[in-house]
Amino acid sequence: MLAENSPGPERRGVSGDKTQRWIDALREAIDARSLVRIILSDPGPDSSVRRLRIRPVEIRGEHRLQVVSETATQATTQNLPPAPGIDSVAQQLGNPFRSALLTTTSRSLQLQLRPDGSARLRAEECSTPVPDLGHDRFKVRRIETSKAWLRLLGVTTPGGAVCKGMEAKFRQIHRFVELLEPLLGAAGLMAEGAEPSPLPLRFVDVGCGKGYLTFAAHEALQGQAGRTVFSRGIERREDLVRRVNATVSEAGVEGLIFEAGSIEAMDPGPIDILMALHACDTATDEALALGVRTGAHLVMVAPCCHRELRPQLVAPDALRGALSHGIFLERQSEFVTDALRAALMEQAGYETRVFEFISPEHTAKNLMIACIRRGDADPGKLPAVRALAGLYGVHQQRLADRLGVPLVG
Ligand SMILES: C[S@@+](CC[C@H](N)C(=O)[O-])C[C@H]1O[C@@H](n2cnc3c(N)ncnc32)[C@H](O)[C@@H]1O
Repeated sequence: MLAENSPGPERRGVSGDKTQRWIDALREAIDARSLVRIILSDPGPDSSVRRLRIRPVEIRGEHRLQVVSETATQATTQNLPPAPGIDSVAQQLGNPFRSALLTTTSRSLQLQLRPDGSARLRAEECSTPVPDLGHDRFKVRRIETSKAWLRLLGVTTPGGAVCKGMEAKFRQIHRFVELLEPLLGAAGLMAEGAEPSPLPLRFVDVGCGKGYLTFAAHEALQGQAGRTVFSRGIERREDLVRRVNATVSEAGVEGLIFEAGSIEAMDPGPIDILMALHACDTATDEALALGVRTGAHLVMVAPCCHRELRPQLVAPDALRGALSHGIFLERQSEFVTDALRAALMEQAGYETRVFEFISPEHTAKNLMIACIRRGDADPGKLPAVRALAGLYGVHQQRLADRLGVPLVG
């Protein structure tokens, strides 16, 4: 805590002492190019604008403040030169916005204006990356080929070229980083739009194998989530864990550790983002259940080897002929498994998005189920889960077991 936190009688508006200090800090941050964002919120009941989000941008070499005004249904954007931008923010302090949060690269300054005219100013140290001044709101940050961990994992050469035979892996890493961005936004975890938090973002990759995507996600999250990131890779093969931890040390990556263990036995505490890519068979279900159990905001799984349901699958009458072909039965079994997983996550309170996350020419195991936490479990969605299971005679499934959802009865 840097500044005082004591409420005191204060006049609201730009003339108030604490309000003036907040505005001075804003001006200094703009001059020093250390402004990250401003959020004005808590308007009075009469305001249709609920929130203003402001960030520095550079447009054709000129500094601007990009002001996004959010109502209940839409957002409008204005790009103002710094001086009128500061004036506009100052005029709206207390009228209508009673809360103003200024984040710079080294601290956050929260101004609270109370209805009785008193004000509170609270400062906290933080370390936020220098903002990207690109005009486009969300810019995909590509992983640079010069990264030491890419070289140590054998993806790139010391000169920064992609190693022969690793081109597909490199493309997979980039594609993965690209798809993270909209998902973080949808889950409210992107630096912009998320409530600023002094807590680290907790990311866990289970069944992480050699850790390529753990490193990539860790790095991408640091660029995009705008807060400290603490990442863990969990893998049952101890030899792999030793190797990747050696890479972490040698590459000097901070905030990332790998641990030997099984998904089933994990008790990791709260998690913000959980991922399991190509974890074998029901390990995917264990990962989804872990995400639900830990209240993760975003759970991403790319399933592989769907063995569990095939012995149970009974073809619906209309599909009996079609499913006498082994390949159709196999594909149908994969479909039913993943469709059930998505339906179970929906009933567990998650919005699910299912898509191919990398072109099928690179790998056939390219389906991703991304789950964004929206609330509590919804028993209203149980009939749809049971109808799907019932259609194919499925009576037992690992995720359903773990979530305590009976498929029949
Ligand atoms: C096919 S690899 C995928 C590695 C990595 N996620 C990727 O996509 O590059 C699957 C990894 O999951 C690990 N694994 C499978 N089941 C697991 C479990 N129940 N607990 C921990 N690790 C598991 C395996 O040892 C293996 O290294």
